[in-house]
Amino acid sequence: MKITVRQGSLVETRADALVVGVHSGSKKLSGENAAVDRACQGAIREALGYEDFKGDVGQAVFVPSGKAPAKRILVVGLGEKKKFDGAASRTAAATAAKCCRDARLKNLAFAAADEDATTAMAEGLGMANYDPALHLTRNKDKRPPLLAKATFCVKDKVAGVRARVARGLAQAAGVNFSRDLVNEPSNCLTPTAMANRAKAMARQFPNLTCRVWGPRDIEKNKMGGIIGVGRGSAEPSQFIQLEYKPKRQIKGMKTIAFVGKGLTFDTGGISLKPPAGMELMKFDMGGAAAVLGAFRIMAETQPDVRVLGFVAAAENMPDGLAIKPGDLLTMMNGMTVEVNNTDAEGRLVLGDALHYAKSKKPEFIVDAATLTGACMIALGDVACGLMSEDDKLVKLIEGAGKASGDEVWRLPLQQRHRDLMKGHVADLTNTGPREGGALTAAGFLSNFAEGARWAHLDIAGTVWTDPGDALNPKGGTGFGARLFAAIAEAAAK
Ligand code: BES
Ligand code: MN
Ligand code: ZN
Repeated sequence: MKITVRQGSLVETRADALVVGVHSGSKKLSGENAAVDRACQGAIREALGYEDFKGDVGQAVFVPSGKAPAKRILVVGLGEKKKFDGAASRTAAATAAKCCRDARLKNLAFAAADEDATTAMAEGLGMANYDPALHLTRNKDKRPPLLAKATFCVKDKVAGVRARVARGLAQAAGVNFSRDLVNEPSNCLTPTAMANRAKAMARQFPNLTCRVWGPRDIEKNKMGGIIGVGRGSAEPSQFIQLEYKPKRQIKGMKTIAFVGKGLTFDTGGISLKPPAGMELMKFDMGGAAAVLGAFRIMAETQPDVRVLGFVAAAENMPDGLAIKPGDLLTMMNGMTVEVNNTDAEGRLVLGDALHYAKSKKPEFIVDAATLTGACMIALGDVACGLMSEDDKLVKLIEGAGKASGDEVWRLPLQQRHRDLMKGHVADLTNTGPREGGALTAAGFLSNFAEGARWAHLDIAGTVWTDPGDALNPKGGTGFGARLFAAIAEAAAK
């Protein structure tokens, strides 16, 4: 979808649909809205009296366009004026996009009154303009078509709005890139395929580089966690390393690191998961997708900070060679782990990835992982879990959560959670008690981030949505891509 910013009035703009935003509880139309209302002979004013349209965020109704040069007019709710913010703009724009796609309208126009809202509007349009049906071969034309074009009509400040629109579209493109990876079936997105996508993405941008370690390099570097988890799979594990470097030279430039869990499928291994819902375990690379999506965003928005990305990609399968419950692994940092449950595999691959990230001496490290069912049960699908003992880093990430729309919710990480992960015959066990499962998982990881500033995001509840909504169509949400990019933005300050 292309977004054109043009100086001019909405009512004179040629489009399939003109989109008019109205606040709830307000019967007054002014400026652009009043002009469009005159052109459609008061149809907007009439809609404001509808029983089923209150102007709430997420509501929208089509009205006939009368003399306006558009097929239809879409009246979109913006909610209460005093509560109107970026999130409301984003959802309202997404709602407009969904309504138009469902009505098979491909070209829409908005009045962009508030310059600052245009980033969120572009992001909302871009995120709603996504189709998860990656492998459809029949009746493609029956799907809601993708939008081709949107026009933002402005009075002035064209350049400022263009820059903001570009940012919003970059953020949506990163999210959609992540969603594609998450929605892709695991036999299409193997660890090798994910590495190839990362390389191909990095090649598109001069400020990104990507290196990939295959099984031989992983072996040579004694990444025992990644080796152990991948042992039961015919698919070779991959360790993906990304770097974003700002174009301009920055004095005393900081480096930060992002780490992602990239289990392209998690059967549980020998500790096999029950069949019901197992197909969803293709989303177990959601942390990796968030990291890759964030690099896709940063390549365009160009924050003033160097960012390293590390993705441990593997497939967790049961097999004759697979690790068994009770088996011993020696991790890259030399610590020994009893694998008492082969389904607690994410922490094993992350342990090595965190240790390697630490060796690059970044200012701080943040990892994202679909790590525990416990976190999903605790927090549901709105916010991800955030665990860290570094209050300053937590503050930074909470701010990034608010700024990006990917919400975070802090959970405790304490010495107790580390103590519960002590092993019987080895340094560590990979399973703690059922209670507080998200916290002990973080406690396990903390052994590998020791000495670094570090925060852990458990995104198990937020990577996937069923049934979905206007902003997030059913399937992978791309959660974390915008959050990581916002963390980089905050670190650059
Ligand atoms: N990938 C899963 C976590 C998960 C489960 C995410 C369901 C989303 C939905 C992870 O590898 C896992 O299996 N974790 C176990 C850990 C347990 C064996 C200690 C879990 O949460 O049950
Ligand atoms: Mn598992
Ligand atoms: Zn897993």
